[in-house]
Amino acid sequence: MTQTFSSTGRDRFVGTPRSRVDGPAKVTGLAKYAGEFTAPGLLHGSVVSSAIARGRIAAIDSAAAEAVPGVAKVLTHANRPRTAWLDYNYQDAVAPPGSPFRALYDDKIHYSGQPVALVVAEDFETARYAATLVRVEYEAETPETDLAAAAGSAYDPPKKRNGIKPPPKPWGDAEAVFDTSAVKLRHEYTLAVEHHNPMEPHASTVVVEEDGSYTVYDKIQGVSNSQGYLASVFGLAKDTVRVMNPYLGGAFGSGLRPQYQLFLAMLAARDLGRSVRVVLTRDQMWSFSFRPESLQTVGLGADRDGTLQALSHDAVQQTSRFEDYQEVVVNWSGVLYKCSNVALTYRLAQLDTPTPADMRAPGAVTGVFAIETAMDELAYATGLDPIQLRLKNYTEADQTAEDKPFGSKALKACFAEGAERFGWAERNPEPRSMREGRELVGWGVATGIWESMMMQSGAHAILGADGRLEVGNSTGDLGTGTYTILTQIAADTLGLPMEDVTTKLGDTRLPEAPVAGGSWTAASSGTAVMKACRDVAEQAFKLARTMEDSPLANVDFERVAFAKGRIEVAGDPTRGVALVDVLRAAGVDKLEATAEAGPDKDFNAKYEAYTHSAIFAEVKIDEELGQVRLTRIVSAIAAGKVLNPKTARSQILGGVVMGIGSALEEESMMDTRIGRFMNHNLGEYHVPVNADIHDIEVIFVEEEDRANPLGVKGLGEIGVVGTAAAIANAVFHATGKRIRHLPITVDKII
Ligand code: MOS
Repeated sequence: MTQTFSSTGRDRFVGTPRSRVDGPAKVTGLAKYAGEFTAPGLLHGSVVSSAIARGRIAAIDSAAAEAVPGVAKVLTHANRPRTAWLDYNYQDAVAPPGSPFRALYDDKIHYSGQPVALVVAEDFETARYAATLVRVEYEAETPETDLAAAAGSAYDPPKKRNGIKPPPKPWGDAEAVFDTSAVKLRHEYTLAVEHHNPMEPHASTVVVEEDGSYTVYDKIQGVSNSQGYLASVFGLAKDTVRVMNPYLGGAFGSGLRPQYQLFLAMLAARDLGRSVRVVLTRDQMWSFSFRPESLQTVGLGADRDGTLQALSHDAVQQTSRFEDYQEVVVNWSGVLYKCSNVALTYRLAQLDTPTPADMRAPGAVTGVFAIETAMDELAYATGLDPIQLRLKNYTEADQTAEDKPFGSKALKACFAEGAERFGWAERNPEPRSMREGRELVGWGVATGIWESMMMQSGAHAILGADGRLEVGNSTGDLGTGTYTILTQIAADTLGLPMEDVTTKLGDTRLPEAPVAGGSWTAASSGTAVMKACRDVAEQAFKLARTMEDSPLANVDFERVAFAKGRIEVAGDPTRGVALVDVLRAAGVDKLEATAEAGPDKDFNAKYEAYTHSAIFAEVKIDEELGQVRLTRIVSAIAAGKVLNPKTARSQILGGVVMGIGSALEEESMMDTRIGRFMNHNLGEYHVPVNADIHDIEVIFVEEEDRANPLGVKGLGEIGVVGTAAAIANAVFHATGKRIRHLPITVDKII
């Protein structure tokens, strides 16, 4: 089939700014989240969390809690029903090697905040109150939660996590060439532990149906993960567990894997034979899933003219004692810059914490902060403009992948268009040279990069006799705009108004799709939806040709257009038939198709696929107070075709705001004496608020890519990558202080 968006010239919705189709449901409260579904006789669970980080439970006294009227049961490791605990069945890209945490499994304590009991009661308030009455006695051991202290025992990941590229083999001799380089810099960089903190806390509602099957509403980025998990852990047939998540209030990666509240809700539901909801509190959001701390060292050796000769990037990153969580931290340095002598290493160190998890642009946020700050330092050391230095060492091929060319890389356009918009030419490169009243002004720049991926995905399309179309699959819309772009794609493919298209997501009864993550949803689900719609289009066309006196009788499929609810001869709208008439004439009440889309193996054999960005930041710093105001950001993005400039811009804005958080505010502080994150609430863990955010401008540069038929490369993550480095570089320009440890707080400025 040759029909594509570009060749028909009928891009009526794709490529145009559209408000979210799910917006009205969300702002009117009609959209229901996992913790809002109810059922007759619903019970409520409240989790009791461990007060120590390492050791064992000596005794649990739940008598006082059980005596509270309305309490149905207190579940602990001692009285929990046995479960199958078969192999976990996650989609493999989201599970690190090791043994996933098992709640209430035995008396062992692996980390502070670990769930040790679930109090189940007739209402939430009773459950929560009774939970305060559960007495736990511990035998405590000394936890190790200090990455610097544990770094000495760092090890190479023994088993590779699926989908994660280990560092490439070194090439050249980075160490020797560094030593003899005219200009050399070697420094340590760190980024604090960050917690995802989506607005919607994690929640699961397990509804026991009359036939004994379960309907589960779970906060998860892909319902099939929860279904697979429940089926294997509880030994259930998959078709007896339907999992849904029609809406999500953000997740940022914290919902890629099923979390313990899902296990606890199902455990209680099966034990008590009643529907159960478990919602975690905000402080319990610190009891799983975080962006791990990394100790990084970047070494750059260069000629006096800024040509890179040696590049090394080493990282030691924290994981838990039970899983080897991995992400791509150091490879970016090898992908971004041309260099003949490169050594990249990545090791893990185990701490007594939960297993870290992917958090928006996992690894890239961390590694790119280090390399992009180091490149700014090299720019000053060689006297080059930071953009010039980057262009001097620009690469058109991925050295970490045997010099395969990039399928597309419009990074130069990002620099050019971003610089123009920002006014970069006006910059005096001298630190402390720009002032405004009592404030120092600093301008910084950095590069962003993220993988452009596509995953195997199913989707269906059903065209009804009333001319309305339904499309969908099981992936989730995190709040990113997936409902909207899929609606646009479907509407264009069948030539319908968007109002006549309903997109359904987040239900295990829909065709299986990957978790919503990795910025791959537009490419994966988008292509699958387009294919399903094309199949329906072809079916409709075949029926239309056989209609009496059909104006399409002698026309090829390649020569028709779908527009305004009709199939028409392309270029001649007078010759055509309405889709509803086609179905009526054929005597069918619907046309339906299920399609599968997956990565283009031929393309991937020839090309590497990444999105890129150039981020420009302006800070204004009160020298006496050390207060940093981030007054301006320009983020220029190269991510292939933009399906919806409005939702796409929002994706980048959200990413930039998260990058501002990394740079200036976000930090989960570990008290290493007791192994506990101390600021486990949004009063003390600071995220940017409206008052912190000023001008953010997003530019999408032209980029043609052919990795998938839509030409999209993904936008969910690129906005955050490199933003913190651009800000740190601006802080240096303003103050002359190089800050290599995020976040940049007042104490580091003064
Ligand atoms: Mo994203 S960290 O792949 O949800």
